[in-house]
Amino acid sequence: MFEDVRRVAAAARGETRRAFIKSFGCQMNVYDSQRMADLAALNGYAEASTAEDADLIVLNTCHIREKASEKIYSELGKLRGLKEDRRKAGRRTTLVVAGCVAQAEGDEILRRQPAVDVVVGPQSYHRLPELLAKAQDRPGVVDTDFPVEDKFSFLPAARNDAIARRGPAAFVTVQEGCDKFCSFCVVPYTRGAEASRPVGAVIDEIARLASAGVREVTLIGQNVNAYHGLDGQGRAFGLADLIRAAAAEPGIRRVRYTTSHPNDMTDDLVAAHGDIEALAPYLHLPVQSGSDRILASMNRRHRVADYLDVVTRARAARPDIAFSSDFIVGYPGVVRAVGYASSYAFKYSARPGTPAAEMGSQIDEAVKIERLAALQALLEDRRQAFNQATVGRRLEVLFEKRGRHVGQVAGRSPYMQPVFAEGPTSLIGAMAEVEIVDVAPNSLRGRVVSPAS
Ligand code: 5AD
Ligand code: SF4
Repeated sequence: MFEDVRRVAAAARGETRRAFIKSFGCQMNVYDSQRMADLAALNGYAEASTAEDADLIVLNTCHIREKASEKIYSELGKLRGLKEDRRKAGRRTTLVVAGCVAQAEGDEILRRQPAVDVVVGPQSYHRLPELLAKAQDRPGVVDTDFPVEDKFSFLPAARNDAIARRGPAAFVTVQEGCDKFCSFCVVPYTRGAEASRPVGAVIDEIARLASAGVREVTLIGQNVNAYHGLDGQGRAFGLADLIRAAAAEPGIRRVRYTTSHPNDMTDDLVAAHGDIEALAPYLHLPVQSGSDRILASMNRRHRVADYLDVVTRARAARPDIAFSSDFIVGYPGVVRAVGYASSYAFKYSARPGTPAAEMGSQIDEAVKIERLAALQALLEDRRQAFNQATVGRRLEVLFEKRGRHVGQVAGRSPYMQPVFAEGPTSLIGAMAEVEIVDVAPNSLRGRVVSPAS
């Protein structure tokens, strides 16, 4: 309370520093951005709602495809102008590039955009306060180390108000990095070797989130089902054990995990889908291609049949499970066999330093565009069919916010479909049983049939 009064008084004197953190790319970046916001809050920065308002601007970047990387440079160009305008108005702005482009390009970022003050990779952002202090005297600080210390043990826990603002569904990073080296992918280079967080740290974080109102956690990792953490007694926990522990936390009603590699779908993880009620019947399981020849060239180390076998085993354990996938264009055969609820398709983008970028016979851009369009049309057709098939079903919905219209609330089904229903705002933060009555292009409409819980 007193702290609030002081903050309001400082704001009235124009003294509150504000931070604006913009996230690009995957869910792990969303999580990292939140942790940076928590760190900034601890260091006296309030959250700014726009870059114009901010004394500290962080772009948390993605390097997965060329387009994603180039977007950062055009964004930085705009921010340089903003920084200059603010300087003329007597205000200092510190510009930070964090995330995977920072890791991959390091100094090159400063060369291409000298207005940048700090470049920090995804494994060292816990050092931001020191890096910002250094940059005060000498802008142009770069830290792309893979430090020996565990960044998570240096990051502050989120405050209750920040958790509440982020809503009842939260991400928790449990595993990072990748040792699989798919030939197209930059992740092993930007996020480093595979590492799992200790069980205790993950469960403590989930308990804190739950006590502040979180009802759904998504356990995230670039290779989440390779999770192998240790508990307090030094026992190894696989992902299935961790899901069980997360689901047992008071307050937690739904657990998800992403992203998984088909080769790490162990029997106990598949079985977990059958016996952990809170585990959502929905699995993001990228296949990347439906051709054994292409899978081999991608170094995926499995065949199409192995993937379909995982799908069959998961459906046997949990008959109402649905799947989503990622594809790099594109062999529609597997799309029909699985009947995906949702999918992402990408044109292959050559990433410097990866084996596939060196291969001969790169595909023409025009051919890629054509294949992508064909694949997307088919995936969209499957998605609509899946949505249509939920009409008349009763689904558990976690309500997260107000709907577009007055009197409406909005949430997500177990299958990640946005669901709108008439209902009081008191439903927000709660799970309710909803009968699906209608489909719109990107959402479902439902009727709440059970009291909130
Ligand atoms: N080009 C295109 N798509 C890629 N992905 C990863 N690397 C590339 C690349 N070089 C896709 C994969 C992955 C998703 C996150 O991004 O489908 O599952
Ligand atoms: Fe992008 Fe991959 Fe980095 Fe996530 S881990 S931000 S997808 S490059």
